[in-house]
Amino acid sequence: REMALADQFGRRVTYLRISVTEHCNFRCSYCSPEEGTPFFAREDHLQAEEYDRLIRIFSGFGVRHVRFTGGEPLIHPRILSLVGSARRYGVGKISVSTNGLLLGRRAAALRQVGVNNLNISLDSLDPEVFARVTRGGELRTVLEGIEAAILARIPRIKLNVVLLRQNNGEGLLALVEYAMQRGIDIRFIETMPLGAAGADVQGEQFLGVAEVQRTIENHLGPLQTVARPADNGPARLYQLPGVRSQVGFITPISDNFCASCNRVRLTATGRLVYCLGQDIGLELLPLLRGTHGDRQIAEAIMEGIWRDKPERHHFVDDPGRSARIFMMRLGG
Ligand code: GTP
Ligand code: 5AD
Ligand code: SF4
Repeated sequence: REMALADQFGRRVTYLRISVTEHCNFRCSYCSPEEGTPFFAREDHLQAEEYDRLIRIFSGFGVRHVRFTGGEPLIHPRILSLVGSARRYGVGKISVSTNGLLLGRRAAALRQVGVNNLNISLDSLDPEVFARVTRGGELRTVLEGIEAAILARIPRIKLNVVLLRQNNGEGLLALVEYAMQRGIDIRFIETMPLGAAGADVQGEQFLGVAEVQRTIENHLGPLQTVARPADNGPARLYQLPGVRSQVGFITPISDNFCASCNRVRLTATGRLVYCLGQDIGLELLPLLRGTHGDRQIAEAIMEGIWRDKPERHHFVDDPGRSARIFMMRLGG
């Protein structure tokens, strides 16, 4: 019999986001502290067999979408076999969120092990801006990675643009045109006031989706609403007439979408986190390494989600609350 995951607000959890490392080969200013992440001992991290076990447990709950994220998931030496686990346990939608730096080398293999949904961060097409945002990243390598993913025919590829005036206030149209020329999707995301980004992102650097939508429509024409698939994330989707690429808008700040939340997160140190707006959660490492069977772990997860998944985040009414949260650790 299949047990299901649900919270006390009537939301079903069908989507697990797994961070496989809190380290990253970029240090984007809104995501990472300047000095990078603190060192954790290897034994404090989930091992491949432990991820495998948890994926099995979650698939038993009817979880149909697993995303691998980080930090940067492609720096994990066993990323391909982790994806393989999700495939083996019958997860239908397998996604990866990456900064693209290692895609040139990995894209074909990712496709082969079953990744069907790839999100690539791209905040600017200007090499200097890109280097500033990522604190030293090379745009050219990422663009080559995107080409490799397209060539590898990963079924669904989306670009993720994190909106900040100084990063993409000028380059919005170039990004949309770039995606359209390649037939891939693009989403614009309002920056959340997490850790490194802190207070900044609520101030004059904040760039809201409404303004982005206006800019696109003024220059490229009216955007038509695309019906959202049932399992879709928070993005509102649009298309320009006759153009294949979809343009998505994600509005954590200007239009809260928590009521339709369907997800939980697993950190690389084995903490099950119930919401992006908090970093507390259920520590699974002691359960995995103790005498608990799958059944007991499943029950702990079910109870935890029911009891502790909060109704919503408080990025707008209480931004200070998220100052110690780092996207790098919670997995986007
Ligand atoms: P797909 O659309 O199925 O690819 O999944 P997704 O929208 O979850 O994709 P992705 O992981 O690329 O998320 C894009 C961005 O949306 C993230 O980087 C976050 O900024 C934001 N986001 C995703 N999930 C949540 C969430 O649960 N809460 C909040 N507040 N923001 C989220
Ligand atoms: N606000 C919104 N999105 C963010 N991301 C990282 N930090 C933030 C933030 N503070 C995005 C990345 C990537 C995804 C995993 O999370 O750009 O697209
Ligand atoms: Fe879900 Fe929390 Fe994200 Fe809202 S902020 S959509 S409740 S994870």
